[in-house]
Amino acid sequence: MNDRSLVTHSGADAARTAALELAAERATAYLAQVSTRRVSPDPAALKGLAELDLPLPDTGLPPADVIGLLDRVGSPATVATAGGRYFGFVNGGALPASVGASWLAAAWDQNVALRVMSPVGATLEEVALRWVREILGLPPEAGGALVTGASMANVAGLAAARHALLARAGWDAERSGLFGAPPLQVVVGDEVHVSLLKALALLGLGRERVHRVAVDSQGRMRADAIPPLDDRTIVCIQAGNVNTGAFDPARAICDAARDAGAWVHVDGAFGLWAAASPLHRHLTAGFELADSWSTDAHKWPNTGYDCGIAIVRQAADLRSAMGSSAAYFTPGAQREPSQFTPEMSRRARGVELWATLLSLGRDGLARLIERTSAHARRFADGLRASGFEILNEVVINQVLVSFGSADRTRAVIDRVQQDGTCWCGGTEWQGRTAMRISVSSWATTEAEVDASLRAIIQAAADS
Ligand SMILES: Cc1ncc(COP(=O)(O)O)c(C=O)c1O
Repeated sequence: MNDRSLVTHSGADAARTAALELAAERATAYLAQVSTRRVSPDPAALKGLAELDLPLPDTGLPPADVIGLLDRVGSPATVATAGGRYFGFVNGGALPASVGASWLAAAWDQNVALRVMSPVGATLEEVALRWVREILGLPPEAGGALVTGASMANVAGLAAARHALLARAGWDAERSGLFGAPPLQVVVGDEVHVSLLKALALLGLGRERVHRVAVDSQGRMRADAIPPLDDRTIVCIQAGNVNTGAFDPARAICDAARDAGAWVHVDGAFGLWAAASPLHRHLTAGFELADSWSTDAHKWPNTGYDCGIAIVRQAADLRSAMGSSAAYFTPGAQREPSQFTPEMSRRARGVELWATLLSLGRDGLARLIERTSAHARRFADGLRASGFEILNEVVINQVLVSFGSADRTRAVIDRVQQDGTCWCGGTEWQGRTAMRISVSSWATTEAEVDASLRAIIQAAADS
């Protein structure tokens, strides 16, 4: 169809063009200066946020005015996570292909619930999931889903586990719920990530109704401390501890679980991506033997927010846990995205994930993992050389540093954050207060690591 009579020449078209051109111009200008500005917003910018707290007007503003206001007031009040000197939490940057794809996807405004709603969204999601399975060395037949983040990927993976183990025991968890169901045992390491406990809570498996396994000095589960397993047990292991970056002994645990008929779920929010690098791949050995995996593309691979990934060895288990049907909502013969996800309507995350991975290629992803890990080692070496204690073995991109007493370490963290050269957060690690450095952005350069090191060492001298 190509009906010229349907072309509109209304003011709406001109207003849209003005708003989108302005947005592209302002976003490009923002990214051009983000590497030279302070990382945390200055107090004046934060005060300025009050200007956004308007009474909702009766008459709306022209879209370009809305974008202009957002940029003028909002951009200075952002945390510069898009630059190279943000080392907080485990926040990746967004590669240019991801940002550009996101702009296009926003213009497309696709709802990737069903293929019929967005053939392109469904296709890109499927291709990207295949690439992810290949990169991570996971079984080609495994099912997958794109969700908001590793938290929701943990929910999806554990929902599949709950389904499979209870189905084996003759119980239909989706139909009958958990009241009266055969009990399941859940095993976690003592350094389990809070999002996994939250997933257990959401699934009715209980945040505290878990067997916690003792860990070693790096937070790795001790394989010799695993309790007896059976076919009603879910064992949750980690690829990449949020503090140390350490990896659980996957092969020993998966072998024991397989013998017992237990299910192994991997929380690999960032660490699983070590598999992309020939230098770091050995750390992920054995994780491919698990039954479900949760990871994030918005962390180490630097796809923009938000993009979590759930993968389940038996696609049917994920589909049974997540599927739904209604008269108006008829799945086709091919993979239907929302039959594998908690949500129905959902944004087209596959567009950015596909674009990010295509722009990196296998080599680019490997270099990203290796470069950020080398930056982490440079931080650790520089801080150690200045007399500070590194509390973890720096195996990937995470560094924990103590500046002495808990009070002094906290004071240094405060000073670093105020100074604005870089941003690092704090944590408690096995009874010690520490500053966390997570090098997760493609944008970080060696010069930025050195400038950040100087700022941290100066903050310590002043504390
Ligand atoms: C090991 C681990 N699991 C899960 C999560 C939660 O990920 P998200 O915030 O993407 O839901 C994180 C976040 O840092 C993490 O490090």
